[in-house]
Amino acid sequence: MPPALRVSPHVTDISPLQARRVGRKLAAMETKTTIDRLCDHVGRTVTLSGWVYNTRASGKIAFIIVRDGTGLCQCVLERNDRTADFFDDARKLPQESSLEVTGVVSADERAVGGYELKATGVHVVQATRDYPITPKPHGIEFLMRHRHLWFRSKRQWHIMRIRATAVDAIRRFFNDNGYILVDTPIFAPAAGEEIQTLFKVDYFGEPVFLAQTGQLYVEAACMSHRKVYCFGPTFRAEKSKTRRHLSEFWMVEPEIAYAGLDEVIEVAEDFVRSIVERVLRDHRDELIELDRNIESLEAVKKPFYRITYTEAAELLRGPKARELLENDLVEKKARVAELDKKIEELDAVAKGGGKQWQKDKAAAEVIVAREEHSELEEQIRNIPHHMELAANFRWGSDLGGSDETIISRLHDRPVFVTHYPKYVKAFYMREDRNDDRVTENFDLLAPEGVGEIIGGSAREEDLDRLLARIKHDGLPQEDYEWYLDLRRYGSVPHGGFGLGFERTVAWLCGLKHLRESIAYPRMMGKFYP
Ligand code: 4AD
Ligand code: MG
Repeated sequence: MPPALRVSPHVTDISPLQARRVGRKLAAMETKTTIDRLCDHVGRTVTLSGWVYNTRASGKIAFIIVRDGTGLCQCVLERNDRTADFFDDARKLPQESSLEVTGVVSADERAVGGYELKATGVHVVQATRDYPITPKPHGIEFLMRHRHLWFRSKRQWHIMRIRATAVDAIRRFFNDNGYILVDTPIFAPAAGEEIQTLFKVDYFGEPVFLAQTGQLYVEAACMSHRKVYCFGPTFRAEKSKTRRHLSEFWMVEPEIAYAGLDEVIEVAEDFVRSIVERVLRDHRDELIELDRNIESLEAVKKPFYRITYTEAAELLRGPKARELLENDLVEKKARVAELDKKIEELDAVAKGGGKQWQKDKAAAEVIVAREEHSELEEQIRNIPHHMELAANFRWGSDLGGSDETIISRLHDRPVFVTHYPKYVKAFYMREDRNDDRVTENFDLLAPEGVGEIIGGSAREEDLDRLLARIKHDGLPQEDYEWYLDLRRYGSVPHGGFGLGFERTVAWLCGLKHLRESIAYPRMMGKFYP
């Protein structure tokens, strides 16, 4: 039976099982393909399998936008003798119904994805009812609780693809540059970073911690392979709900034997540049869809800026920082006034006597506008505090989130901040031999207010200095004996860094909050689904 004459089952009165059986029978007869391969099939008849993204109909013609995981394709269905049986059902197929569409491929520049399918057959796998995420705007709380469905949406789909490419770029960089992958454990007997953020778990009756970092383990491994890296999930019990903190996040950590601070910084520079380049090369369209400012990513060229912590402190106390925040205050207040007006207008529509769909749309838009409003109000409340923190920044304290944001925004490329006061940083960092108040470390701040995406350092290779620091920090020496062995047997200068993967994805995609940068974000109080 040629596909054109095939009668598709009715939308509503078929069980999913029956539908699947029919689907299998039909499958043998035509070329199955995916939307990303339509370019190979122009002029031919193919079958796509996917989900209804959107439908639109006018008279005798229906447009079904199908998504199939590889892209979107507009399928055009005309009502005629051959399609009469299923035309009416197909044109009303609810969003996210699963289906197969058979038709002839044509190239069409105006169509989404550049190709169109003149449909000759539609086969419904499942007619969906009441898909919760509709094209109208939804509040973030609602979307987070529907994360398992939310990531079918176009924006989330783009982000996840960019993330996957960034993973590949990362592995490629290290694999191509002679690094050996060493996977580090997730159950860790001791702290790698601040003890306040450890997750304790029961390990056959003994307490162990979820790894905060793989660093100590790759330090050991680099003494065997010279250049190594690990890339895996890490855990921090961050008791704050900020836009830049997750309690489970992925970190990539290279470690290099016989490397000093400058060498490690250079690797970080090449590494970050290579990720940005790859994402720009492969995902320009997605970035545009995400409204990402492409020029600012293209500006990520070598050399990145380098300033010391001491210079950063001066910057914070100086007039540029103050001016930046004063302007923010003015801009944000203006936006709040705009939103006040918008909310009032939308409210009037939502409660007015118009059509129900108009009222629903307005009500949905109010939720989103209110969210932006309350975020802005919080920021406005915080600005004076951030100004004060910056103006009174004291040498010796760590840079806070708002300080990082300021420094980051005052640079149009990533900026390395080096040589922090040693006691605000971790025990393993190498003391600067020319100035024992500071360490040979760096944070890499991404521009546009993103802030720290990398933390790294030269490691203290001297046994006595390391022991003294462990004692000073009150860490239990016995837990670190294996680590101290690295300073007892063939100790050499070495160093490395850790790149926070979600922060990097958020920066690449221009996301304000980390929660969209990972499929299933874990934050304080949030672990569903
Ligand atoms: O600066 P951190 O704490 O450095 C380390 O863990 C070192 N052991 C890395 C090393 O030298 N091998 O963390 C590294 C990066 C940060 O720059 C940040 O990007 C990210 O990890 N990060 C987080 N990302 C999301 N949520 C959190 N709670 C994060 N904490 C750190
Ligand atoms: Mg850090």
